[in-house]
Amino acid sequence: MCIGEVAHVSAGITYTSKHSVEVQVNVMSENILTGTKKLTNKATLWYVPLSLKNVDKVLEVPPVVYSRQEQEEEGRKRYEAQKLERMETKWRNGDIVQPVLNPEPNTVSYSQSSLIHLVGPSDCTLHGFVHGGVTMKLMDEVAGIVAARHCKTNIVTASVDAINFHDKIRKGCVITISGRMTFTSNKSMEIEVLVDADPVVDNSQKRYRAASAFFTYVSLSQEGKPLPVPQLVCALRTPVSKAAPNISGLDAEFYHTQAHP
Ligand SMILES: CC(C)(COP(=O)(O)OP(=O)(O)OC[C@H]1O[C@@H](n2cnc3c(N)ncnc32)[C@H](O)[C@@H]1OP(=O)(O)O)[C@@H](O)C(=O)NCCC(=O)NCCS
Repeated sequence: MCIGEVAHVSAGITYTSKHSVEVQVNVMSENILTGTKKLTNKATLWYVPLSLKNVDKVLEVPPVVYSRQEQEEEGRKRYEAQKLERMETKWRNGDIVQPVLNPEPNTVSYSQSSLIHLVGPSDCTLHGFVHGGVTMKLMDEVAGIVAARHCKTNIVTASVDAINFHDKIRKGCVITISGRMTFTSNKSMEIEVLVDADPVVDNSQKRYRAASAFFTYVSLSQEGKPLPVPQLVCALRTPVSKAAPNISGLDAEFYHTQAHP
């Protein structure tokens, strides 16, 4: 979408499970000078209702009424696929992005980046927890920095694989959003982003992984055309991946690429 265009955002419920709601969001951009409209973004978001009295209690969802029988069947397939993918994300949930001194260009360490943010009242819902959109924006920002450092060109987000919010983030937490390149193809790159929350003023709680996702970015020429991406260079070092502790000698930086070609 370009500066000066008008965004039309529409959303609707497309599936309900016992405890979750799938919402499909479409963004149309309108050029008010020419009148042309086009679909620019599509996203599927899953919400889980929580009790107002106890934010740790998950509530049941009133089932949505489908206009066609197939809608429910298609929705169930998406729900099951999303649940399976989530299990995989949980399994990778232990990885930590470690800084490296004097990294070589085009290695994972060269472009890996982090942002640290103090969660203030304007980041939060009425109940004092961070808005999902605030976290998503910071995650996209870090992924964009990683992509730009790697390519040194103008870059754009092409897509985001399920952002999983593993745990709530409370007002007053310090969050660290870390990103690293996990895969390069000819004209796109995959960046893993992890969000860790540190309840600094609450000694009873330790730092925890709050969210994670994979972003796909594309490098663009000055004319806005996709460019070839510099390929990741393998830098051999001791694996840091907790998710793959026994892969001795294998570059942990390439762990994701190897595990998910
Ligand atoms: C989402 C959350 C409430 C789930 O809690 P939980 O203890 O894992 O709950 P359960 O395992 O009982 O799952 C409850 C429902 O949520 C669904 N669910 C859980 N995590 C999900 C995810 N990442 N994506 C989609 N659905 C999810 C489950 O499928 C289940 O629905 P079902 O019974 O119909 O299958 C919890 O992980 C949380 O609070 N996360 C942080 C949320 C947040 O801060 N979001 C950003 C601000 S809005």
